Amino acid sequence: MKSDNVVWHQTAVTRPDRNKLHGHESVIIWFTGLSGAGKSTLANALEARLHELRCATIVLDGDNVRHGLCGDLSFSHEDREENIRRIGEMSKLFIDAGVIPLTAFISPFRSDRRRVRELVAKGDFVEIYVRCGLETCEQRDVKGMYKKARRGEIKEFTGISSPYEEPEDAEIIVDTDTHTIEECVDHMMNELVRLNVFHGPLEERIASSL
Ligand code: ADX
Repeated sequence: MKSDNVVWHQTAVTRPDRNKLHGHESVIIWFTGLSGAGKSTLANALEARLHELRCATIVLDGDNVRHGLCGDLSFSHEDREENIRRIGEMSKLFIDAGVIPLTAFISPFRSDRRRVRELVAKGDFVEIYVRCGLETCEQRDVKGMYKKARRGEIKEFTGISSPYEEPEDAEIIVDTDTHTIEECVDHMMNELVRLNVFHGPLEERIASSL
């Protein structure tokens, strides 16, 4: 910490006030998985579903954030750690603002994900493992990056030349190689209901729509 002599300022409008306004709790929905597993697709599809229900949301996506806030970071172990730290801090700000951030980052290291989990209160971090075999991700190769990584043109590529550590305590798991996007979204919505993210009236509307 380089910022000494700074005292936390309490806001007049609190997080519970904001949650009451929106009719839902604000939790970090943290997608993790290999490149090409479907994190961004699912984050966007789930956000669309939540938006229809008038929830306050934002998608934070690796490919976008790395153009701006994290544009100075590479894919070394150290820089990925800093990438996830910044996203964690930003997500914390969003939950304080009553907004549900849906984050789509490979976040390959357990220790980095654990650090974000520990940054917020118990229950405020919902880890979603977007599970998909490397073979399938490589076949999809939406951005042609696996081919490049295999040719050695991209260094430290997750799954090829850099590790991916599978979650051990994810709240939700979705298998994108065997289920449709719609099925995954239904499953995630059910799980969010189970985790008490939605307040009574909203929960009833969701129950009748699922
Ligand atoms: S993370 O490891 O720090 O969480 P992040 O999710 O932000 O990664 O960025 C991953 C995206 O960057 C991938 O979807 C891919 O398009 C691109 N990318 C470029 N180089 C690499 C690399 N070496 N490893 C993984 N992804 C890479």
